[in-house]
Amino acid sequence: MTEKFLEGKGCLITGGASGFGRGVAYAFAERGADLVLVDINEELLNETSKNVEKETKQKVIPILCDVSEAKQVKKMTEQAFSELDNIYVLFNNAGTEAAYGVDVLKVGEKAWDLTMNVNLKGQWLTDKFVSRKMNRQKFEPLRGKIIHTSSIAGTVVDPLIPVYSISKIGIIALTQLVAKSLAPYITSNAIAPGFHVTGVYGNREDIMIQTMKDGNVKTPLNRIGTIEDVVDLMVFLASPRSNFITGHTFPIDGGIAEVGVAPNTLKSDI
Ligand SMILES: NC(=O)c1ccc[n+]([C@@H]2O[C@H](COP(=O)([O-])OP(=O)(O)OC[C@H]3O[C@@H](n4cnc5c(N)ncnc54)[C@H](O)[C@@H]3O)[C@@H](O)[C@H]2O)c1
Repeated sequence: MTEKFLEGKGCLITGGASGFGRGVAYAFAERGADLVLVDINEELLNETSKNVEKETKQKVIPILCDVSEAKQVKKMTEQAFSELDNIYVLFNNAGTEAAYGVDVLKVGEKAWDLTMNVNLKGQWLTDKFVSRKMNRQKFEPLRGKIIHTSSIAGTVVDPLIPVYSISKIGIIALTQLVAKSLAPYITSNAIAPGFHVTGVYGNREDIMIQTMKDGNVKTPLNRIGTIEDVVDLMVFLASPRSNFITGHTFPIDGGIAEVGVAPNTLKSDI
């Protein structure tokens, strides 16, 4: 039986319309949470929210918001707390990539700004506005949990996605700094996924596998990542079983970033 450890708790998921955000929305709602889903893709946001609500019977509030815009994030946060009365878990997940395959010194300013503003500033802004109210909640022993989204590209610099890498390394620093600011009442951790078929690859496995080939990536566990892999880690980080963990970034990548051997020496098909 699924443990309902999120009953009576609100969870806010940015980038909630698609990919990891959508997968985690189902998993949190199945564990009793009411949700606020935030995204810039209005059509997909409404569709996902309706489907999650219908299938899980939990309350799901869609809020259209660009996380890179302070005014929008402030307004979104006010609406989120008025609709749900508490936000126990913030899954800071919205992300984008705008300069694939461009040398770091040739990246245009627009691509730099878009990637940094959504990926790094967006998570910082959301932390800032949500944590103020989260910190006044009466839950014990923790008042709330924040989970950021870094990437394997934040743990091992990837020259094919230079600005994205810089933004995701920034998330590891943000995670540590927020953990210090909000201790001992709110935990701050991050996930660092590897290669998983989601919207960033147009939901196409062939595009993702080509991207891995371009980067000469080999996976020790010899399969591609799934959304479910990430959901399992997220369920742990949202649960009381992880209450003594803060300030850490958790890789979830089939071993790509950890084994410390040259990719070509691995006996793996993927
Ligand atoms: N898929 C992977 O293999 C992988 C690996 C490492 C990290 N990540 C990270 O995981 C997170 C989720 O991405 P995903 O893979 O599920 O992709 P996805 O494209 O399926 O989902 C990302 C969602 O973020 C939304 N979004 C984009 N810009 C936004 C903005 N300014 N404001 C609000 N919402 C916005 C998109 O509309 C989309 O619904 C991202 O931070 C991404 O960098 C993904």
